[in-house]
Amino acid sequence: MTCTIIVGGNFGDEGKGKIVSHVAHKDRPTIITRGGVGPNAGHTVVVGEKKYGVRMCPSGFVYPDARLMIGTGVLVDPRVFAQEIEVLGVKDRIFVDKRCSIIETSHIEEDKNNSHLAKTVGSTGTGCGPANRDRVMRIARQAEQVPDLSPYLTDVPYEVNTALDRNETVLIEGTQGFGISLYYGHYPFVTSKDTCASQMAADNGVGPTRIDDVIVVFKAYPTRVGEGPFATEMQQEKAHEKGIQEFGTVTGRERRIGNWDGKMARYAAMINGCTQAAITGIDHVDPSCFGITSYDALSDEALQFIKKAEADIGARVTLISTGPELTQIIDIRDEL
Ligand code: GTP
Ligand code: IMP
Ligand code: MG
Repeated sequence: MTCTIIVGGNFGDEGKGKIVSHVAHKDRPTIITRGGVGPNAGHTVVVGEKKYGVRMCPSGFVYPDARLMIGTGVLVDPRVFAQEIEVLGVKDRIFVDKRCSIIETSHIEEDKNNSHLAKTVGSTGTGCGPANRDRVMRIARQAEQVPDLSPYLTDVPYEVNTALDRNETVLIEGTQGFGISLYYGHYPFVTSKDTCASQMAADNGVGPTRIDDVIVVFKAYPTRVGEGPFATEMQQEKAHEKGIQEFGTVTGRERRIGNWDGKMARYAAMINGCTQAAITGIDHVDPSCFGITSYDALSDEALQFIKKAEADIGARVTLISTGPELTQIIDIRDEL
């Protein structure tokens, strides 16, 4: 039995979707459940020629043998949920905690029209901030009050904890990243909730003593969308020259790109209680590493990068992503 949490160590978009999908195929969890804020997150999962973008469902959906859950602390937009489960064909194995707060269309309007949120913070306009406020005000609706969600309602903490009692494997996937945590990011340029591992456990009603591993995902070249400080940011032209530009899954906005930030990585690892790290985009450090699946095939440049990252993070890098596709990964977790 293992209970593993996967979270982001930069400003979100580290490629958690890709890492979660790989870990799911390898570890064969019976439940994949998500924490995090809500549909402001966009995960990209690429399997062969197919590219999926998910905002509500766990990105581990590509692994067909797990039940998929949305944890108690996650905001649910019933419209996004309905559309996604249809497209992904996961109706028979997805569940929503009955206490999840609901995003109303009025929350989305407010998020888009409030200049503090839309301009100063640069929110995703998905209604998350206003919906979390209404939860704190104790006026938000909950999932069990929405007839469309009734076929999917469950008690996620009960399901997860009883699965662990039966010695099953559970994967808890986080969204967003350390640098946009409501507590630990550069306030006020942050999202509307903490984004660290303890929050992901709390979102799913799993006590800290039940967590075996925390995998923090770092991006070789971190990115940030929206406003706020970015210590190692590079000029947009430089990112274009390197051919490493990216666009947001949810908003389509061009992501700001920066260099590796060792100091931030160490701090993120500390607060997340990182037991292992994953690095994505090693193919951006050295394009010759694109798609490789063996540690021995890494170039000297890539190896040096990984060694420095390990020294900064203070934990082993056990997963190295070498491209967007599911199988483009080096996994040395079993060798340690
Ligand atoms: P949030 O929950 O929104 O923070 O998202 P996320 O961490 O799941 O990441 P997202 O999918 O939004 O962005 C990561 C991008 O990098 C996607 O376009 C992935 O397909 C891509 N990607 C993931 N791993 C790699 C990699 O190793 N190399 C390259 N070149 N791209 C990668
Ligand atoms: P909100 O979460 O939509 O309120 O946006 C607040 C800030 O967090 C903005 O800078 C967003 O760009 C950023 N943000 C929220 N969710 C994500 C995510 O999943 N990836 C990257 N940035 C995000
Ligand atoms: Mg994303």
